[in-house]
Amino acid sequence: MSEGENPVNNPPQKPQELISAEAIADRVRKLGEEIARDYQGKELVLVGILKGSVLFLADLARAIPQLDVRLDFLAVQSYGDATSSSGVVQITSDLTKPIDDKHVLVVEDIVDTGLTMDYILDMLRTRHPASVKLCSFLHKPSRVKKPCAIDYLGFTIPDRFVVGYGLDYAQRYRNLPYIGVLD
Ligand code: IMP
Repeated sequence: MSEGENPVNNPPQKPQELISAEAIADRVRKLGEEIARDYQGKELVLVGILKGSVLFLADLARAIPQLDVRLDFLAVQSYGDATSSSGVVQITSDLTKPIDDKHVLVVEDIVDTGLTMDYILDMLRTRHPASVKLCSFLHKPSRVKKPCAIDYLGFTIPDRFVVGYGLDYAQRYRNLPYIGVLD
């Protein structure tokens, strides 16, 4: 076996760049300015949806250093085939603290059909927060089945399966610093 050859998996294909790391940094900075303005003087709980939002949440949190921010996470499993969710969602790891009377900003990697986010937002609203808003890094409007209001949006993208900046295909590519498209 030659050096670097993987006997189990093929080497990952290099995705074609759709959104550069520079464009991402610029957009996240602007989202941070908007969020800092809107939540000035308030305590804010950023709720990251694992695992896809982790890179976005890390950058977004650092773009709002002037706010009083807590971080918490929800892990969910969306059932469906490899590239599409069915709307059947299971919470596999819940928040660590109650959110009663808190201002909650849900941080998501992508709203595709909207089924996962519809479920999560409804579930969080039953816990009596002071407010719940959504910040999604990406949105594919052409695939929406359950429209949900995205209060802060990074980029609108066409109906392509994208990876990178936290988004995966079969758990790969999350560590790419840009958003790319697989063939
Ligand atoms: P929805 O319920 O169809 O909106 O799907 C939401 C979830 O599906 C996202 O949080 C992602 O985990 C996954 N997903 C949807 N589209 C893509 C994509 O293009 N690339 C990677 N994951 C995706």
